[in-house]
Amino acid sequence: MAMRNATDDWRYFDAGKIPTKASTPHLDRLLAQIGAAADHGGPIALLDVGCGDGRLSKRLYDQGLCVTGVDISPAAVAAAGRLAGAQGGATLRFAEADFAADQFPRIEGGPFDVVVCQLVLSIIGDDRNRNNLLRHIRALLRPDGWLYLSASGVSDAINPGYARLYAEDALLTGEPHSYFSRNEQGEVLYMTHHFTGNELEDLLKAAGFGQIEVSLEREASSRRPEEAAFFLYATCRPA
Ligand SMILES: C[S@@+](CC[C@H](N)C(=O)[O-])C[C@H]1O[C@@H](n2cnc3c(N)ncnc32)[C@H](O)[C@@H]1O
Repeated sequence: MAMRNATDDWRYFDAGKIPTKASTPHLDRLLAQIGAAADHGGPIALLDVGCGDGRLSKRLYDQGLCVTGVDISPAAVAAAGRLAGAQGGATLRFAEADFAADQFPRIEGGPFDVVVCQLVLSIIGDDRNRNNLLRHIRALLRPDGWLYLSASGVSDAINPGYARLYAEDALLTGEPHSYFSRNEQGEVLYMTHHFTGNELEDLLKAAGFGQIEVSLEREASSRRPEEAAFFLYATCRPA
């Protein structure tokens, strides 16, 4: 298993350099399908886990949702907090929370109709941390709620650079398809795990999710846009 402390890697990460994705067609489709109002009659309550600097949370708030963004990084939450507000029935707030730990995070505003978890499962640490993340999300969702999750996919077949990174770091990470993301100086920033579709589906099932749909897309790598990488997009509900 990983020898780094992923919690510390992200707690002290430079908030101005948090990787993100601006385009979210899979999430947009899910929200259109759910509709503007939840079954309980109020506005949709959405939790954005690992919200980074809050730009996705803000976009969803601007669409009329009640959004809570949570992140382990105090600097990211402070930056995101400047976007907080209330307009019409919608609200936007941010809080610090650790979803990798065994202990259940205390989050106000739940249970949630939708949980968004974009690009977090791949970087949150080892298998235990991944299971904790999904278990905590499951517990915060309404029984009829939805999880939208994106993660990095195994990409050695389309990018030899990833094949090399998986092989070079395998002894240190202790698992296939994991490697250390590094900065321009070669210093390790955090561990990244790339999932197969079946692996992601099994993790979601083990955490208590059903109606799982996973799609695989060939895109540009988040940190190296000139290189190709696979991404997985999952939607599912509490089983
Ligand atoms: C790759 S970034 C994605 C940010 C955002 N979801 C987006 O797509 O713009 C991963 C985020 O997960 C957060 N994170 C890492 N470990 C976490 C943990 N244990 N609990 C909560 N958030 C965490 C990081 O601080 C970072 O903001």
